[in-house]
Amino acid sequence: MTARESILKKRDGKTLTASEINFFIHAYLRGEIADYQMSALLMAIYFQGMSFDETVTLTRIMRDSGEVVDFSHLPGIKVDKHSTGGVGDKVSLILAPLVAAAGVYVPMISGRGLGHTGGTLDKLESIPGFKTQLPLSRFKKQVEEIGACLIGQTDEICPADRRIYAMRDATATVQSIPLICGSILSKKLAEGSNALALDVKVGNGAIFKDAETAEELATHLIRIATAFNLNTVALLTDMSQPLGGAAGNWVEVCEAIDVLQGRGPADTRKVTLALGAIMLQLAGKTGDLPSGTAQLRALLDNGAAWEKFLEIVRAQEGDITFLENPDKYPAPKHRLEVKAEREGFITAINAREIGRLSMLLGAGRKTVDDTVDYTAGMLIHKKISDRVHRGEALITLQNSGPPPDNDFIQTAQSCFVIAHQSLPPPKFLQKLLNAQGVQPITEIELMAGI
Ligand code: URA
Repeated sequence: MTARESILKKRDGKTLTASEINFFIHAYLRGEIADYQMSALLMAIYFQGMSFDETVTLTRIMRDSGEVVDFSHLPGIKVDKHSTGGVGDKVSLILAPLVAAAGVYVPMISGRGLGHTGGTLDKLESIPGFKTQLPLSRFKKQVEEIGACLIGQTDEICPADRRIYAMRDATATVQSIPLICGSILSKKLAEGSNALALDVKVGNGAIFKDAETAEELATHLIRIATAFNLNTVALLTDMSQPLGGAAGNWVEVCEAIDVLQGRGPADTRKVTLALGAIMLQLAGKTGDLPSGTAQLRALLDNGAAWEKFLEIVRAQEGDITFLENPDKYPAPKHRLEVKAEREGFITAINAREIGRLSMLLGAGRKTVDDTVDYTAGMLIHKKISDRVHRGEALITLQNSGPPPDNDFIQTAQSCFVIAHQSLPPPKFLQKLLNAQGVQPITEIELMAGI
């Protein structure tokens, strides 16, 4: 068996056997298969896809590339949440402490920024001292003692995803349903969760822009998860504009602090409560979603979620004085407002481009080895359906690297479409899917507890 044979087979649209996938991934991890050959295989999978059985096999082999944690000695159902990725998506930072404060164990393995989307690990690492690469023994102990721990893939857990995730980002092979399923589910299966709430983003800032492909992704994720007995529910949520009012790393931590202290933008709060209610339902802690959202809202308002967040950050060596007093954080060297050139209503926002610009400001990586500027990012002042006056700020760009030039500012300006007629805001919570298929929900039903 050689790497070349497997690449050739997949390139020509044939099905890889379990032993071929196993050989490829393990030889790659041992350094016997080069990055360029892994890149070629990823591109072949991107174009040719994988069958259901192949995707299950890929997920299993990726899960088993490291240790598989067992939390069965802990009472109750362990639940995690994962997003397929968006711009300004800081929900995991809020949800893990929030749901843990409700008495549910939340083991969480997250990822870094991928393509134009941000990553939970980078956001957490913007907190001075915060460690996302913990020995597995510490991960287990923290989940047992505090109820939640947020780490990245390590050499001990999901090393295959750790290596392949970075490679996909650099080789433009992120948008592949089997690769996304293998990546997300291998992490969730290895971390010891019994149930999973998925936030599948839809819109121009999502991995897949159109609703059909996003739903296809959600369906595949649920089918593959079900093959492993991982009880999974997917919520399709809007990503036709950045979530909340901040995109970057530290700026998103600041927004998460606001929500955890009972404030924050309505859309960030809404998606957090909706996904949290689904997690509580999966854990058997609420009979219906509206009571789940009411329970969680109380934990945001009474400070319990905030206290849990501080406990988690302290345990992962983050300096909580920066969370208690965000003004202490180093200010970005450059701060620049991008203003509207005309008056009217915002009818569209190019969230994908905003994500790309945020990455170029330094909030993400152009190449695997780039370092992140944690002060870099954007504050988003206008959202779809908002009225805007000429000269009013649309967005504030900030970073500490080279300041944005005129071309950059113009590109940022062009991300906002301003028209005479207003449009209603996009439908935010779009669909709920589980192993039985699409479930009838309306936004009102789901959010009745808010
Ligand atoms: N999140 C992941 O962990 N992996 C992907 O492939 C996409 C989003």
